[in-house]
Amino acid sequence: MSKKIIVVGPGNIAHAIVARWLQVADAEIHVLARSKTYLTKGWRPQEQQVVTFDQEVLTQADLIMLAVKPKDMLTTLAQLKPRISPASIILSVAAGIAIAQIRQLLPELGIVRTMPNVCSEIGTSVTGISFDNVAEEDKSWVMSLMNLLGHVVEMPEHLLNPMTALYGSGPAYVYVFLQAIIRAAEDLGIPPEHARELAAHMVLGASQKALMDSDKSLDQLVSQVVSPGGTTEAMLRVLDQLGWQDIMHQALKAAGEKAAQLGAVPSRL
Ligand SMILES: NC(=O)c1ccc[n+]([C@@H]2O[C@H](COP(=O)([O-])OP(=O)(O)OC[C@H]3O[C@@H](n4cnc5c(N)ncnc54)[C@H](OP(=O)(O)O)[C@@H]3O)[C@@H](O)[C@H]2O)c1
Repeated sequence: MSKKIIVVGPGNIAHAIVARWLQVADAEIHVLARSKTYLTKGWRPQEQQVVTFDQEVLTQADLIMLAVKPKDMLTTLAQLKPRISPASIILSVAAGIAIAQIRQLLPELGIVRTMPNVCSEIGTSVTGISFDNVAEEDKSWVMSLMNLLGHVVEMPEHLLNPMTALYGSGPAYVYVFLQAIIRAAEDLGIPPEHARELAAHMVLGASQKALMDSDKSLDQLVSQVVSPGGTTEAMLRVLDQLGWQDIMHQALKAAGEKAAQLGAVPSRL
């Protein structure tokens, strides 16, 4: 019999994950909503069939994935608690919310904290995950589900806040970077219909090479592209003068600090 997954909160990340699981996971999936705002979050008609307003679905859950905003997390959990069976596993994707905060409300349950990203929808997320009080068999099942979303790394929980800054928010850095180079390419005369395709493939190819050539430092990979007096050298000089490394450092630091702040919500509810 297929397992039953209940996803609480039909927002952006839930949509990315459920869209993928509906294609490839052997499980019955229901998404618990509290309003019809999900209709603005990209749910396609056949995916909308899994959305429900009936909290009773929680009582039969093998896995409950919590995908509400961090500020709503503990109030939502307190409200749903009477319908949560002790046999369910809790899987939280909320940035900054610690396992210990969930454990205060659900002392007996297996709890998983994870940080995927929106690339889950096409199975190319990178996902950090930490387990607490989860039986080995259940852990294998949860890992198999998360593997359907992309590359998964089990890690100590304290690393999940900085990891959120790196790759939870990360797709946005890449999209902003793409936006900037596409605009610049268009100024250089590359037609818009080609600029996005070429820029996105370039980022994909360079990233794949960084993964495959992991024995080489990134400086070595840069030096493979630079020829003295050439175009890359001219580009890198401008980036260095404008201090882009410092900009990215500050951006990631701000995201990491925000992840830590998001968890600093009242824990007694
Ligand atoms: N977006 C990402 O890329 C990403 C990546 C990794 C992790 N996360 C984490 O995922 C969580 C959700 O983020 P998001 O970007 O998907 O937010 P979002 O689009 O705002 O979605 C949150 C959803 O939760 C619903 N909700 C709130 N309380 C509820 C309740 N009691 N019962 C049922 N539904 C409820 C909201 O419905 P209403 O509109 O009715 O309030 C909304 O549909 C956050 O904790 C975030 O840290 C996000």
